[in-house]
Amino acid sequence: MKTLVEFINDKQVEYPGATGEFTRLLNDITIAAKIVNREIRIAGLADINGLHGTTNIQGEEQKKLDVFANTHFIEALKHGGQCAAIASEENEDLIIFGNPYSQKGKYVVAMDPVDGSSNIEVNIPIGTIFSVFKRITKEGRPATVDDLLQPGREMVAAGYVLYGSSTTMVYTTGNGVNGFTYDPSVGLFFLSHPDMKLPDEGNTYSINEANYNYFPEGVKRFLNYCQEDDKPTHRPYSTRYVGSLVADVHRNMMRGGIFIYPGNQKNPMGKLRLLYECAPMAFIIEQAGGKASDGFKPILDIEPYDIHQRTPLFIGSRHMVEKAEEFMKEYSRELADFR
Ligand code: AHG
Ligand code: MN
Ligand code: MN
Repeated sequence: MKTLVEFINDKQVEYPGATGEFTRLLNDITIAAKIVNREIRIAGLADINGLHGTTNIQGEEQKKLDVFANTHFIEALKHGGQCAAIASEENEDLIIFGNPYSQKGKYVVAMDPVDGSSNIEVNIPIGTIFSVFKRITKEGRPATVDDLLQPGREMVAAGYVLYGSSTTMVYTTGNGVNGFTYDPSVGLFFLSHPDMKLPDEGNTYSINEANYNYFPEGVKRFLNYCQEDDKPTHRPYSTRYVGSLVADVHRNMMRGGIFIYPGNQKNPMGKLRLLYECAPMAFIIEQAGGKASDGFKPILDIEPYDIHQRTPLFIGSRHMVEKAEEFMKEYSRELADFR
């Protein structure tokens, strides 16, 4: 049985010239994930449920757990010293680590500390999402927003933690995807899903269909396609929607399927954030053989201009995403539907 720490250390050896800094950064993320996991597991008992009494930059009410997780991930990365700055869903501005931390910090991180916050109190899986970039500004000086505003293709690592019926950490460094399951009795993650691959085809689709009337025409047509009767292609498909991106994408990762959060008339760019939700999930899914698109082009090709910007998301099994893109290209023009 290989532990996550052993696995990360073994990988480091494969890179000549590796300094161990990246290994340390990943280990720090793991430690914070364990602390957050402990808190989540007692969420029904302890005073961790409920609102924190504040709102974040997106105007959403912060849950106590959002703030708890945010604080722990920031602390872990700050003390590690490898991370020069963090963009978090819970902080309007970039968190820039000052001296002495920025002296050697080579990396910057974007994160959604708790994904699926509305599910905390109802005992439904939630997650954590993170992405890691090498900074482009000079080391030794404070990082800037430019370090985070890099297209997803530049990412050096991305991962998610799913706090589900078990706690699983899935990550990639651009060389395949591996999944680790947490054994709480020994406090370690063990390699449980080596070299994860997503089926090219699936038969589930996940979308918040209550917004149907506001969807672009291409999405409506794709949904009609999913619901049509056609034995050879296993249609009609099934709907599954957890409401936690990590859980919905992880299910598709295991079984195949597509998750869609489109733009709509009220929010042309949809709801999900590029830097710490869509791009890391896109990197992982592409590495597992799947596809992630904004309906027209790969998520990883988007050039970010704001750390909190949003994007429509179509992600999952390759053929299903390609099919959805076909409908988008035929029936919807980029954002033009909403003008
Ligand atoms: P967060 O809890 O980090 O704000 O993210 C919630 C997101 C995502 O996890 C999920 O897929 C989506 O919101 C669900 O949105 P709807 O409730 O609009 O369907
Ligand atoms: Mn989220
Ligand atoms: Mn969140």
